[in-house]
Amino acid sequence: MAPVRLSKLSTLNYRNLAPDTLEFPAGVTGVWGENGAGKTNLLEAAYLALTGRTEAGRLEELVLAGQAEAYVRADVLEGGSLSVQEVGIGRGRRQLKVDGVRTRTGDLPRGSAVLIRPEDSELVFGSPSQRRAYLDSLLGRLSARYAEQLSRYERTVSQRNAALREGQDWALDVWDAPLVTLGRDIMEFRARALVRLEELARHANAELGSRKALDIRLLESTDPASYAQTLHARRAEELARGVTLTGPHRDDLELTLGGLNAGTYASRGEGRTAALSLRYAELQLLSERFGEPPVLLIDDWTAELDPQRRQFLLDLAASVPQAIVTGTEQPPGAQLALQAAAGRFTPQPQRQEEMPA
Ligand SMILES: Nc1ncnc2c1ncn2[C@@H]1O[C@H](COP(=O)(O)OP(=O)(O)OP(=O)(O)O)[C@@H](O)[C@H]1O
Ligand SMILES: [Mg+2]
Repeated sequence: MAPVRLSKLSTLNYRNLAPDTLEFPAGVTGVWGENGAGKTNLLEAAYLALTGRTEAGRLEELVLAGQAEAYVRADVLEGGSLSVQEVGIGRGRRQLKVDGVRTRTGDLPRGSAVLIRPEDSELVFGSPSQRRAYLDSLLGRLSARYAEQLSRYERTVSQRNAALREGQDWALDVWDAPLVTLGRDIMEFRARALVRLEELARHANAELGSRKALDIRLLESTDPASYAQTLHARRAEELARGVTLTGPHRDDLELTLGGLNAGTYASRGEGRTAALSLRYAELQLLSERFGEPPVLLIDDWTAELDPQRRQFLLDLAASVPQAIVTGTEQPPGAQLALQAAAGRFTPQPQRQEEMPA
């Protein structure tokens, strides 16, 4: 398999980006400019066009204020073949097309891009649901079966919750069986995947100069083997509260640094480093699964990072077939430099590398 490469990105009405088509070479593209220029928006648009996914809270946010619809298009090269991926956003919906044919997110290439952003610190300092979303999104890309089981599980939870709210004790027996079967599968898949994920993240955290060892553990609301019994034991409480209280939709990923919970005790920089380690693990796991590294999108390469950590990001960008790196400072060593201003991106002549005296 040849690596996926973003050859062109077109946007229309996407946040503050001026309607345009930008070409990207293999290697590193550096995008730099002042705050508010549109650098993050550009990476977000590239991620959306490559993967069909977005981490924005609401789809409406992506549409230029005052407009009804936004559009992004990626011309994707894979080996010798070119395909066109289009995403239309309007009225809370997204519509995907590959080479003109309507498709679903799950049918797009699943290992084509990884986005690293300063906001990733939320993986450490934020809520359990943010860590679960990270894990589920990653595992869903590694395994189509996981994505399928998870969505069936989530549907079962909401149907069971409806039965709980209506006090239908008898209906719960109907939902408990699929809940337990699907839930156990999910817990077991997570536990298996976590072994390699932890190994990779620990490695990165040490490479990044952290003196504290990173440990990652699943905090499960039930032991998979006794899931059915736990549900039974907590039924009265669940009926009273109207929600399903045990199962993988309630589990957390516990991150510890030197034995202390990172969310509670880590410094900002330590937290950002641990989050970076999780993204590194994501990049490596997708590379291992699909045989080729994804396009790497790094937002704000200098944010909150000391020189050693910045260098790690630059080295990572240089190690993959294609990367786009943004910042308020121009990242050194880029094949193409784009200067960002007011939603426009202008190619700049390359800075001469400084010659040693
Ligand atoms: N839907 C929208 N419609 C219009 N403008 C928007 C929309 N969403 C975001 N913007 C604007 O886009 C601008 C650029 O945002 P972006 O986050 O890309 O900047 P940036 O270059 O990454 O800046 P920084 O260096 O501060 O991270 C912001 O001024 C923001 O207000
Ligand atoms: Mg930004």
